[in-house]
Amino acid sequence: MALLKKFLNQTRKPEGFLGNLMLSVMSLGHAKIADWAMSLLNIPEPEYIVELGCGNGRDAGKLLKKYTFSYLTAIDYSPLSVEKTKKKNKKMIAAGRMTVQECDVSNLKLEPGKFDLATAFETIYFWPDLKKCFAEVHKVLKTSGHFMIVMETDGRDKTIQWFKEKIDGMNTYTPEEIKEALEYAGFSEITIHNKLRFNNWTMVLAKKI
Ligand SMILES: C[S@@+](CC[C@H](N)C(=O)[O-])C[C@H]1O[C@@H](n2cnc3c(N)ncnc32)[C@H](O)[C@@H]1O
Repeated sequence: MALLKKFLNQTRKPEGFLGNLMLSVMSLGHAKIADWAMSLLNIPEPEYIVELGCGNGRDAGKLLKKYTFSYLTAIDYSPLSVEKTKKKNKKMIAAGRMTVQECDVSNLKLEPGKFDLATAFETIYFWPDLKKCFAEVHKVLKTSGHFMIVMETDGRDKTIQWFKEKIDGMNTYTPEEIKEALEYAGFSEITIHNKLRFNNWTMVLAKKI
């Protein structure tokens, strides 16, 4: 049980051997929901994208395949996630379309007003103060920029509660709580999409007006 808890805790800030393993497991496990969410993204082609909490970089690469003229900055506060994302996206980085940096969402050291799209796949559970972090995202978006949040839960199911009990510092949110935090941070035109799978997958899209 102790090893299981240790392994599950690698979802929060992956490091070392277990973190490396967890990054591969998460990337596989989250692939379907990430692709579902990206398929719903129906916005003008973004020039600059920021991928927040990029994990092993799978979704960063996918976004650049969907948006073939875009540039993407991938950030994560785990040095291991940064290293894995760089390794996975060597070609995009060499082509000048992707940069990867170690950075905490609660203090985004990125150019204010630069990005057309910010994405957060399966990561907001670990952000320290949702309203503050959303305000940071708002700050780096352009006016009319979009923020997409993706979670494999609606915050109500038993599975996510099971994970929450095992993972230190994990928080879960309902779509309504996310909407409230987004509005507090200055976002509007908030839409919520759900898909009932094993859990109720959730995608929230918000706009900076
Ligand atoms: C559960 S993993 C999800 C990874 C990937 N997005 C995916 O869907 O597979 C959460 C990721 O968010 C990162 N993360 C958590 N809190 C963060 C924060 N405050 N700032 C930057 N990255 C963070 C973790 O290091 C980890 O790589």
